Amino acid sequence: MEIKNICCIGAGYVGGPTMAVIAQKCPKIQVTVVDINEKRIAAWNDEDVNNIPIYEPGLSDIVKEARGRNLFFSTDVDGAIEKADMIFISVNTPTKTYGIGKGMAADLKYIELCARQIARVAKNDKIVIEKSTLPVRTAAALKEILDNTSNGVKFQILSNPEFLAEGTAVEDLMAPDRVLIGGDIDTAEGRDAMQALVKVYSSWVPRENILTTNVWSSELSKLTANAFLAQRVSSINAMSELCEKTGADVNEVAKAVGMDSRIGSKFLKSSVGFGGSCFQKDILNLVYISKSFGLNEVADYWEQVITMNDHQKRRFAAKIVQTLFNTVAGKKIAMLGWAFKKDTNDTRESAAIYVADYLLNEQAEIVVYDPKVRAEQIYADLDYLGTRSEAENRNLLKVVSTPQQACEEAHAIAVLTEWDEFKNLEWENIYKNMLKPAFLFDGRRLLNKKELDNLGFETFVIGN
Ligand code: NAD
Ligand code: UGA
Repeated sequence: MEIKNICCIGAGYVGGPTMAVIAQKCPKIQVTVVDINEKRIAAWNDEDVNNIPIYEPGLSDIVKEARGRNLFFSTDVDGAIEKADMIFISVNTPTKTYGIGKGMAADLKYIELCARQIARVAKNDKIVIEKSTLPVRTAAALKEILDNTSNGVKFQILSNPEFLAEGTAVEDLMAPDRVLIGGDIDTAEGRDAMQALVKVYSSWVPRENILTTNVWSSELSKLTANAFLAQRVSSINAMSELCEKTGADVNEVAKAVGMDSRIGSKFLKSSVGFGGSCFQKDILNLVYISKSFGLNEVADYWEQVITMNDHQKRRFAAKIVQTLFNTVAGKKIAMLGWAFKKDTNDTRESAAIYVADYLLNEQAEIVVYDPKVRAEQIYADLDYLGTRSEAENRNLLKVVSTPQQACEEAHAIAVLTEWDEFKNLEWENIYKNMLKPAFLFDGRRLLNKKELDNLGFETFVIGN
């Protein structure tokens, strides 16, 4: 089966970069990314590629090369579905905020809407691919919707979860550890569909890195991978608190442990807590699925990863209050970083949001600097929590455009995101312009504590 036209529904952090790379690597395939969000599509089409809606190192160059050649961004969802041989569904699957499973289960309404739209519009056979992260067995529901179109069109459903991490999306897509493709391995049509997708990826991914499995294994592997990754962060963060009590240094512990090849050194960086749109959502989903099968011990085991993460964010904020003589009321706290990690403008579930909320409850005055996150996003994140009025959020928290401005006359600085530029700030000057004692809380273990202490700072580093 020769794929000539690909459509991707959802032009977000996954759909945009993934399709840009497919288009770049497969110039003979026409790739159309569609979205109902007109503003987002307009930004993807902005003449100046620096204005595309997602910041990822290297992405704008790829978009520049492929856009208008074989990469297109559009709001004409029906048109793109109709033309496509292969449709990726890459829409958001957030945690449900209502009804059964509220706060735990994945909200599949956007996925279902896509399936119904495909069923309504399709006039010829198509391969439909789950790119979004979904609960295991979602493909069965998609199949039922798609098989009931009564217009004779046949669909093959594949699961092809995405493992890219934000900030390194382009690297991850160019050289993935593996590409996972799940499908109906028991039928010839299913195997053909899987091979069609294998062929797309094999334009640049070595065959041995393309894994084919049954569809349920593929769906569950994605949730498992995120749960394991998040568990490592919670594990090292649990140790960071013990380090602070005992004089051990969490970096030294991580290094010693990580040199065991069975454990490995990656993803053992202690922090103020993991954020991002997926770890928490996917673990909650796993907990919900486990509970729904009556597997309470399995559910409790994974839920602890989230409990630990919430604790880490809270205890970092509490440490600030406690160190500042048990009150931050009316004190200026500079927050460096708002994104959930460096090299992205994504703030979803960022630890910074919760630390700020905690400090605002203590009536601190917060000044935020982040090199990529806009003020409107910061306020939207706080407003979404609903802790206080929009006016209060704007009154108590200010956003500035340089780190120097943020730190001027501050009682304390908190580093929330590990942006490289924070390493090379003129710390001596910053110290001079702060109120004394000048406190610094490094939630990312980014800075050199000894040097800062020598300058006069009272530095607290997580896990030290
Ligand atoms: P996102 O919110 O950035 O993008 C989703 C897009 O889908 C939005 O622009 C939205 O407008 C659009 N959309 C929703 N319903 C639509 C419809 N019916 N028709 C057309 N467009 C529609 O989300 P994301 O971060 O790209 O994540 C998408 C999926 O990929 C999620 O399931 C997520 O768990 C998974 N995932 C995300 C990442 C990541 O790094 N962000 C990595 C791997 C997997
Ligand atoms: C994560 C996974 O790494 C991807 O494989 C997956 O595709 C993606 O989720 C997803 O499904 O959305 P992402 O959330 O973009 O990617 O970023 P990560 O690099 O995993 O970082 C997540 C959070 O953990 C960040 O807040 C980061 O600062 C934190 N982290 C990470 C640590 O605190 N310590 C570490 O050692 C690693």
